[in-house]
Amino acid sequence: MKKKWLIGNWKMHGNLAANKALIASIRAELPELDEGAEMVVCPAFPYLYQLAELTRGTGIGVGVQNVSDHLQGAYTGETSPLMVKELGGSFAIIGHSERRQYQGENDGLMGRKALAAIDAGLIPVICVGETAEERDTGRTHDVLARQLDAAFGYIRTAHDKIVLAYEPRWAIGTGIAATPEIIQAEHEFLRHRVAIRDKDFAARLPIIYGGSVKSANAVSIFSMPDVDGGLIGSAALNATEFVSIYRELLSVVSAAE
Ligand code: 13P
Repeated sequence: MKKKWLIGNWKMHGNLAANKALIASIRAELPELDEGAEMVVCPAFPYLYQLAELTRGTGIGVGVQNVSDHLQGAYTGETSPLMVKELGGSFAIIGHSERRQYQGENDGLMGRKALAAIDAGLIPVICVGETAEERDTGRTHDVLARQLDAAFGYIRTAHDKIVLAYEPRWAIGTGIAATPEIIQAEHEFLRHRVAIRDKDFAARLPIIYGGSVKSANAVSIFSMPDVDGGLIGSAALNATEFVSIYRELLSVVSAAE
């Protein structure tokens, strides 16, 4: 059975005390991770080292929410994926829609960032997703194909070193997740698109869903055949919710075995 993923995107939340309390609560509710599902938390940059220390030996992975597309150099204000690696990070979210929306990131930059992350030994969590307007005007597949092709144009040989996340922008932070049927349809579309380049890669590629996932809707989403886990925003800041979502993911894994 393919490994499942639960990744918490903490966005621009947290502080030293709150982060420590959150990890302690997760550990209290879930002393051991199950080998069927990975758990990863992605704090804001300044807390990367703190989280690497707090999670040491727990099996919980740590990532960041963005990286530079360069490994080193005169790029004021940027953070190299090599620095992330050195400070204990193993993952980097790339191309999140909030970066596209507020920081003007485009498809090409996203591809270069994914490549830099891989070069530094990080696993990029590559985000794709359409806006409400793009969906309403029937352009969802064009947009997903464009975003995916831009990223995969750079990283075609990175077998087993990538997670793909489908995050429709209209479902992020709205409290209204996409329906399981929409999620399955778009994950299937993405997997087929990757299969055009490499069938074996497509079959093994984890495709996770993000956008208003909570414990109440987790099972219906995770039960879809092409859904390999979740990228969780607000619910990742609540230990009880995050652990419940993790347990729901495991329940789907064991039901499938
Ligand atoms: P919410 O779970 O808060 O909708 O956020 C999803 C997200 O953006 C994860 O990257």
